[in-house]
Amino acid sequence: MANQISNISPKILVFITLISIVFNNYFQPIDAEETGKALIESTCKKTQYPEECISALESNPGSFTANLTGLTRIAVEKSASKLVETLHIVETLVLNATNYLTWGFLVNCRDTYNISVPQIQRGLQAFDQLKFDKSYKSVEAVNNAVIGCDRQGWTLPILTQVNRALFRLTKDTMMILHLLF
Ligand SMILES: *[C@@H]1O[C@H](CO)[C@@H](O)[C@H](O)[C@H]1NC(C)=O
Ligand SMILES: *[C@@H]1O[C@H](CO)[C@@H](O)[C@H](O)[C@H]1NC(C)=O
Ligand SMILES: *[C@@H]1O[C@H](CO)[C@@H](O)[C@H](O)[C@H]1NC(C)=O
Repeated sequence: MANQISNISPKILVFITLISIVFNNYFQPIDAEETGKALIESTCKKTQYPEECISALESNPGSFTANLTGLTRIAVEKSASKLVETLHIVETLVLNATNYLTWGFLVNCRDTYNISVPQIQRGLQAFDQLKFDKSYKSVEAVNNAVIGCDRQGWTLPILTQVNRALFRLTKDTMMILHLLF
């Protein structure tokens, strides 16, 4: 009797192991590999500035468990917070402006960025209503505001720098958003 059990047990064990492997694989989500770091990287590879994209997304811990939709929302959120951050810097530059021309041009940038804030917030609401094209347009508006601010041709190094970061992030966000519609 004891002999029989010890003969059968290994076979049963192997059988149970095989069954559980098949079972586990079957019930794993199809896109299981496509979350976390791998999804962040494969998504950002489709953008123009992958490095900026990766560092923006990875700065939010939620990115590591998000699917593509969740990741895209995080990108829009990041664009919105970068816009507000840039607006605050431009506001300081306006206060610090030492000549009238620079002041006038900075006020222009400040006002267009200020208008863009409620726009991209509506873009986030549109995103939650799955209106990805509307959300895209709100991010595109920010990107255009950056182009407009830069076009003045003034060389304020700090402004050039913050504008570049906002331009790249919004451009990447537009490209990611476009994967959804
Ligand atoms: C993505 O994840 C959200 C929850 O975070 C879920 O509601 C949604 O259905 C998922 N989308 C896809 C395409 O799996
Ligand atoms: C504006 O000026 C203040 C005081 O002179 C200075 O502390 C601040 O760093 C300046 N801000 C910018 C963005 O140049
Ligand atoms: C920025 O926009 C808000 C409305 O979103 C407005 O109340 C505020 O006065 C504006 N600020 C400037 C400096 O234009």
